Amino acid sequence: MNPYQEELLDHYRNPRYKGRIQNPDFSSDELNPSCGDRVLIAGKIDKEKITQIAFEGSGCVISQAVASMLAEKSLNATRTQILAFNVETVQNLVGIPLGPTRLQCALLPLEALQNALLRYQKR
Ligand code: FES
Repeated sequence: MNPYQEELLDHYRNPRYKGRIQNPDFSSDELNPSCGDRVLIAGKIDKEKITQIAFEGSGCVISQAVASMLAEKSLNATRTQILAFNVETVQNLVGIPLGPTRLQCALLPLEALQNALLRYQKR
């Protein structure tokens, strides 16, 4: 197994930032309609910076491992930085090439996080 696969499995088995945040400033629950897997990401913001983040969800290794990796990367980042994350950001987190189906799995947590932050901006 290459180190990237090991890291993915480690995040899947020992997710960082898994849980629920009381009274979050932002949250979004996203579903992958093709498989029913879901990721909910929530957090708190102080002066544009993510000060707390947590996710819940159920699904495949990629979607849940990326949720954990993304939460780790996003803590202490700014809203603007996170809204600029893209496919490449997710690919770099995963570290191994993903086909179109697996890429959708990997993008589910990013959609949840960015939708939550977009909604927060509108408040
Ligand atoms: Fe459902 Fe990966 S198979 S998100």
